[in-house]
Amino acid sequence: MRRIADMFQPLSRPAEMIHVTAVLVLIISLVIFLFVTGILVYCIVKFRRPANDDGTEPPQIYGSTNIELAWTVIPILITVVLVLVTSRTIGEIQNAKMPENAVKVRVVGHQWWWEVHYPDLGIITANEIHIPISDRDLAKATPSHFTLQSADVIHSFWLPQLGGKTDVIPNKDNETWFDPFETGVYFGNCAEYCGTQHANMLLRVIVHTKEGFDKWVANQQAAPPAPSTPEEIEGHRLFFANSCVNCHKVSDSVAVGVFGPDLTKLMTRQTIGAGVAPLNKDTLWSWVRDPQVLKPGCYMPDMKLHDKEVDAVVAYLQTLK
Ligand code: CUA
Repeated sequence: MRRIADMFQPLSRPAEMIHVTAVLVLIISLVIFLFVTGILVYCIVKFRRPANDDGTEPPQIYGSTNIELAWTVIPILITVVLVLVTSRTIGEIQNAKMPENAVKVRVVGHQWWWEVHYPDLGIITANEIHIPISDRDLAKATPSHFTLQSADVIHSFWLPQLGGKTDVIPNKDNETWFDPFETGVYFGNCAEYCGTQHANMLLRVIVHTKEGFDKWVANQQAAPPAPSTPEEIEGHRLFFANSCVNCHKVSDSVAVGVFGPDLTKLMTRQTIGAGVAPLNKDTLWSWVRDPQVLKPGCYMPDMKLHDKEVDAVVAYLQTLK
């Protein structure tokens, strides 16, 4: 597992294209920096006030067409080169043709979590995006294509090792794509300040082998087992008797809320609260007891359940896998 999203280690085609451009820009900037600093240091050392300085003004020189032309034309040429390489990379990424077999994902940014839809597969999840591995060979590549939407304010979708930042803007569909070369967990985050819990609007992309992805899809499409123990049944009753169902969705039930994450396959996720904590019985209990403890300011209110009721609701939620 990659704990740190190292943007200097790109593992997807668009990320590699950006990396190459970034390194080129960095090298050009470094040459300019060394040249300017070199001249500066040389002048400071070479033209120090000598010990025998008589204090008279040195000869003043005005106007040199050659020098002025040089410091105007050369920077313009350098800027043109930078503009051309950058816009070429942007164009190549934005205009890339997606093959028929590209996995289509619709991601909706919310304050402060990510809603994830697979329209062709009938899957809805949150904060964790599962996609298949691709191939460096363009002919065999299986990229994943993302349509990015926002339910409220401007967010930004960023997986540093998979691709560049793309703004997520209300009333506008933006697009991006990844085709990862290695399986594993990739970390990302919202990269546009969007309110109190912007820092806890985290995102994971889990890249599977082709078989692993098919298995994940089959599991997500299968209905979770019905609650069986008395506590699970009581939790189920409480969940549907409270206003949980106004904000959350559990498929094939009367819970059809869309303000909060879809809970149908809750327990198949690694984290709770968009990455604020690992998902386990304890963090789930804390969350149901009062979400404001783990994620102050989030839009899920304290439901004021008693501890016994929280036990039951947690037991029920744990069946959602
Ligand atoms: Cu969403 Cu920052």
